[in-house]
Amino acid sequence: MDHFLYRDGRLHAEDVAISDIAASVGTPFYVYSTATLARHYRLFEDALSPLPHLICFAMKSLGNLSVAKTLGDMGAGADVVSVGEYLKARAAGIPGDRIVFSGIGKTGAEMRTALEGGIRQFNVESEPELEVLSEIAASMGLRAPITIRINPDVDARTHEKIATGKKENKFGIPIGRASEVYARAAALPGVEVVGIDVHIGSQLTELEPFEQAFQKVADLTRRLREEGHGIRRLDLGGGLGIPYERSNSAPPLPFDYGGVIKRTVGDLGCEIEVEPGRLISGNAGLMVAGVIYVKSGEERDFLILDAAMNDLIRPAMYGAHHDIVPVVEPAPGTMPHVYDIVGPVCETGDTFAKQRPMPPARAGDLVAFRSAGAYGAVMSSEYNMRPLIPEVLVNGDQFAVIRARPSYDEMINRDSIAPWL
Ligand code: LLP
Repeated sequence: MDHFLYRDGRLHAEDVAISDIAASVGTPFYVYSTATLARHYRLFEDALSPLPHLICFAMKSLGNLSVAKTLGDMGAGADVVSVGEYLKARAAGIPGDRIVFSGIGKTGAEMRTALEGGIRQFNVESEPELEVLSEIAASMGLRAPITIRINPDVDARTHEKIATGKKENKFGIPIGRASEVYARAAALPGVEVVGIDVHIGSQLTELEPFEQAFQKVADLTRRLREEGHGIRRLDLGGGLGIPYERSNSAPPLPFDYGGVIKRTVGDLGCEIEVEPGRLISGNAGLMVAGVIYVKSGEERDFLILDAAMNDLIRPAMYGAHHDIVPVVEPAPGTMPHVYDIVGPVCETGDTFAKQRPMPPARAGDLVAFRSAGAYGAVMSSEYNMRPLIPEVLVNGDQFAVIRARPSYDEMINRDSIAPWL
């Protein structure tokens, strides 16, 4: 459930009419609902209680400072994958001891910043990383708390570009080599083993792959403990999917996901960490766009929007579906018209939806892309010299611009003229 509903025929974000935001900030823009973010966060809290746990919001899904602060103020930690995300989480007031650092390519400089600033744990993904981290931490007179990300060789049954738990993927160390790598970690002066990490992919729509992976983690926990390692935390990653197509998808609920966690690893006495991104942020955001033209082609009609693939790349990159709805509710009985919904960028890939039935639209109308909170704004670019679009946060009857649209001057002045020109 989200808080984007029609009221008196107009789409609202909580108590604010989307058209009022559009009139104030201009289109296109992203808008997020505080109540939806909070609701999704609480669903995880409820699903994992009474196990000791920490919900580390995956900042990569929606990295805005105000969103991080909204969740951080509720008690959330953060899962970060770069020092930039680390600094953003800290700037949002999330303490270092609630931040886990994931990612396969952490640099020495990133490790040093996180160690200086305070970090809950590094999720180490390879032996070379382990050696570098130990060396850096030891040189600072510290022992870095670590988990090692294991690759359980489980098929997440999701889009191939976002599956991470098969042995051919670049992530983690093979589970078969865990004993060896943990033994090496235990012998190093600059790291302290605190647990195990796993993340098998994103937008999972079944619980079965989680169950398989977590069962392997449970078995490994027992084995590593027998081998003398103090496994006290299990980081189970993120990945729970959301219903992108409301009409025909119903992915598992956080409560049932929590049930799988309790069943598989609940009796080990470990603190459980999860790193959800999309399930918290995805349906908490819309991208709102204006119709520039309705163009009748020879074979099809095009709805040309002022938003483009640079603003929301998921359809172009993954063939992803986003429901697209009019901001003014169509009158009952309105017959749909079929459109290709496209942006102005100069490539055919800039297509949001093909042959999509929509209420008939006119230039100047507003449409909203649902489920655009996750991997929307964060993956946007300025391709075609299009400014990054603003982000707006709604809370009840208030709204605030939480990232402003840059001016063309700002964009141009980020470049510089080489001295010989
Ligand atoms: N933890 C780790 C280590 C991850 O790599 C990810 C996502 C997450 C947590 C959060 O996963 P979530 O709960 O959001 O599924 N750009 C793609 C998704 C990439 C996901 C990358 N890793 C998309 O638009 O679908």
